[in-house]
Amino acid sequence: MAAFLQMNIRLNSIKIVPGRYSSLTDHQFRAPYRIRCAAASPGKKRYNIALLPGDGIGPEVISVAKNVLQKAGSLEGLEFDFQEMPVGGAALDLVGVPMPEETFTAAKQSDAILLGAIGGYKWDKNEKHLRPEMALFYLRRDLKVFANLRPATVLPQLVDASTLKKEVAEGVDMMIVRELTGGIYFGEPRGIKINENGEEVGISTEIYAAHEIDRIARVAFETARKRRGKLCSVDKANVLDASILWRKRVTALASEYPDVELSHMYVDNAAMQLIRDPKQFDTIVTNNIFGDILSDEASMITGSIGMLPSASLGESGPGLFEPIHGSAPDIAGQDKANPLATILSAAMLLKYGLGEEKAAKRIEDAVVDALNKGFRTGDIYSPGNKLVGCKEMGEEVLKSVESKVPATV
Ligand SMILES: NC(=O)c1ccc[n+]([C@@H]2O[C@H](COP(=O)([O-])OP(=O)(O)OC[C@H]3O[C@@H](n4cnc5c(N)ncnc54)[C@H](O)[C@@H]3O)[C@@H](O)[C@H]2O)c1
Repeated sequence: MAAFLQMNIRLNSIKIVPGRYSSLTDHQFRAPYRIRCAAASPGKKRYNIALLPGDGIGPEVISVAKNVLQKAGSLEGLEFDFQEMPVGGAALDLVGVPMPEETFTAAKQSDAILLGAIGGYKWDKNEKHLRPEMALFYLRRDLKVFANLRPATVLPQLVDASTLKKEVAEGVDMMIVRELTGGIYFGEPRGIKINENGEEVGISTEIYAAHEIDRIARVAFETARKRRGKLCSVDKANVLDASILWRKRVTALASEYPDVELSHMYVDNAAMQLIRDPKQFDTIVTNNIFGDILSDEASMITGSIGMLPSASLGESGPGLFEPIHGSAPDIAGQDKANPLATILSAAMLLKYGLGEEKAAKRIEDAVVDALNKGFRTGDIYSPGNKLVGCKEMGEEVLKSVESKVPATV
């Protein structure tokens, strides 16, 4: 990889990488794909970032977030080598598969991956293996990113955007740690079969091995330790065997983290508590399916899906950073998308993916600054604020990144 980079370095320039991709012809792999920004300066840290814009609003929000990431990084002495690759519907249109091998290779060889969103009406009737969303399953599975971190924070500027009463929503600041590569979404046996009565049956299996529980629990304990020191493990141990083992393993690990206060909650109660008293939660750890549902529920407390970033991390290799929203085909191409979830995903990329906390803080502070100045996209707009589009919101955040005093971490 280093040799490859050296071959392609050209100071302060953008260059197209020549014929490196087997299944994509030069014509298919036209701009914006295959763009590498090459610029190595002495004394600067350099990272390879795979950009996967995807579909719908994906390219709009990625283009904005890329500029913010580049600016915040450069102010902290970081340089990025971006490689933009097709994924999802965009890849289906180019080469007939949602996750081309070349895209996966570029992602796997990068230091971190920033993804926009995947999917759209155009591909809705495709067979399952040719649906754009399959790219996400392949990426998560093959990168082995088993830990999905989803913060849900109600910013004071946006408390009125929450569907909950102000006194319930204000001050909410939680992190949901979801297991991402196991459980019922991947468990075997699975599928639609015919039973002994000749009737169709749908089968999905909730299954967790001890090591899968231990590794996600460790991520959660470590996360809680860096936050307010409270961890709530959510399961269904009154019914599900996989949850009984989950609770046993999480409880056993607690002795290694005496500074973290561990509690357990059944998932049905957790769903209620999230809207009754969300402030009680600091860090939540849960399995794949419960995390999928609870994190979407938590996202609504914050007001808009357009505000929420996520990080997916494995034991080694690059992390995957993406907004939690989809491709929003209803507003795609209209400059209406809120780019803040993707910009905040870029901040998570810096913080959790590269360990560059100062640059991450610059972005987080700039987002707050732009909101303080009253800039709002349509999804978070309220009277008295200034309605802006995706690009203008990006420009305002960029200005704040440039003008804000360096943050202390
Ligand atoms: N991670 C992903 O890539 C991902 C996640 C969820 C859904 N999807 C796919 O996205 C497509 C659309 O799905 P959906 O409509 O259920 O969910 P969605 O998140 O795309 O949109 C839901 C609603 O939220 C709005 N919205 C979403 N993001 C926004 C943003 N940044 N700014 C302003 N408004 C925003 C949309 O306009 C829409 O009204 C489907 O093909 C689905 O499979 C992809």
